[in-house]
Amino acid sequence: MKFFVDTAEVDQIAELNDLGMVDGVTTNPSLIMKSGRDILEVTKEIADMVDGPVSAEVVATQADAMIAEGRKLAKIADNIAVKVPLTWAGLKACNVLTNEGNMVNVTLCFSANQALLAAKAGATFISPFIGRLDDINLEGMDLISDIRQIYDNYGYETQILAASIRTVNHAYQSAMIGADVMTAPPKVIKQMAEHVLTDKGLEAFLADWEKTGQQIL
Ligand code: E4P
Repeated sequence: MKFFVDTAEVDQIAELNDLGMVDGVTTNPSLIMKSGRDILEVTKEIADMVDGPVSAEVVATQADAMIAEGRKLAKIADNIAVKVPLTWAGLKACNVLTNEGNMVNVTLCFSANQALLAAKAGATFISPFIGRLDDINLEGMDLISDIRQIYDNYGYETQILAASIRTVNHAYQSAMIGADVMTAPPKVIKQMAEHVLTDKGLEAFLADWEKTGQQIL
């Protein structure tokens, strides 16, 4: 499973990237706003740092303007994936930008039918938002399963990018279902290393080691 980091905070990406954990990065207008950085500058900095795809999102709502913004964002670096919303205009932009040789991430996907359309429009990635479905008392993970089945039924190559991941359980379930990629905030990726029995076991080992009076170095 590929891990994308869902943030525009360069320091946090660098920390995970140094551990070899980062296969790509996703940003969105809210994350750019939180970073306080200029979109072109921070996206360039991130794209230069990581080897994999870096999603940069358009903010226009009409297809022609989305395409123009997408072309500008794609020029930032070779590893930019242009992110477009899952609207009819976004699907048109996806098709044009894909045919021009760009990676396209179709975002804000909340139904299997939307994901089917994105695949037909040639999307490189489809981003179903798990957490936001859970927020309205739907089962976000069911959407990942449904898209996995539909894409496998017909051999679509669009990669399922499980997004809006808020918990380690979301990460675990996405991996079990077979999402190609997950994008998660750095905090969630780090929490995946935690287990209460690991902490307890380490505490006991260190207490026993202390009793031996030995040192390794
Ligand atoms: C994905 O590309 C989005 O940036 C992100 O996963 C949205 O997550 P949120 O619903 O927690 O804001």
